[in-house]
Amino acid sequence: MGRVATLVGAAVALSVVAVMLPEVAAVRILVGKGAGESGNGWTTNVNYTVWAQGKHFYTGDWLFFVYDRNQLSVLEVNETDYGSCNSDHPLVNWTTGKGRDVVPLNVTRPYYFISGNGYCYGGAKLAVNVENPPPPPVASPEKSGSPASFYCGRIVLPVVFAVGAMWDAFLRFC
Ligand SMILES: *[C@@H]1O[C@H](CO)[C@@H](O)[C@H](O)[C@H]1NC(C)=O
Ligand SMILES: *[C@@H]1O[C@H](CO)[C@@H](O)[C@H](O)[C@H]1NC(C)=O
Ligand SMILES: *[C@@H]1O[C@H](CO)[C@@H](O)[C@H](O)[C@H]1NC(C)=O
Ligand SMILES: *[C@@H]1O[C@H](CO)[C@@H](O)[C@H](O)[C@H]1NC(C)=O
Repeated sequence: MGRVATLVGAAVALSVVAVMLPEVAAVRILVGKGAGESGNGWTTNVNYTVWAQGKHFYTGDWLFFVYDRNQLSVLEVNETDYGSCNSDHPLVNWTTGKGRDVVPLNVTRPYYFISGNGYCYGGAKLAVNVENPPPPPVASPEKSGSPASFYCGRIVLPVVFAVGAMWDAFLRFC
């Protein structure tokens, strides 16, 4: 009885999540995370082309730049200025002065970022290609018998962790 109620409750909650988030959940991506000796973040002596390789950036995600605010900055530029480290006419200056800047990747296109103050020449330059999120593997989750195959990925885990009561049911789903 209790178990059934939990399962039903979880299913209802998951349906609500599905309505709110029809595709994969957006994530905040820490630029340079795990990039090596210089540590995480936006800095020099990191090859951000290598860092970005094999990663996916989806519309709705955010880039999170963490850096020394007394030195670097976050400038969105076009491809030419990315290539030449030219910070004279940024498309957007995302620098807030805190050394912690969040950039929403809300359009499906390439984005180019460099630091001003010459740090671009030292490697503080990043190009990301923002893609549409992949369609869910289950074409029509509302009609399929079990929503589990769709929901056990990026969407539900954070939600389920947040709602401890659902965990028991979640383990049975997945
Ligand atoms: C970064 O790595 C890429 C891919 O290996 C390479 O083409 C590029 O020259 C490197 N950039 C720098 C500044 O070393
Ligand atoms: C980038 O901007 C510069 C300066 O505004 C311009 O000369 C250049 O043609 C632009 N490049 C692209 C690819 O739009
Ligand atoms: C970007 O904005 C920051 C903070 O307002 C400012 O200090 C900096 O000069 C700006 N950089 C450019 C290239 O516009
Ligand atoms: C993307 O985000 C920027 C900054 O928040 C905003 O100015 C712009 O209108 C947004 N574009 C779309 C297509 O939502």
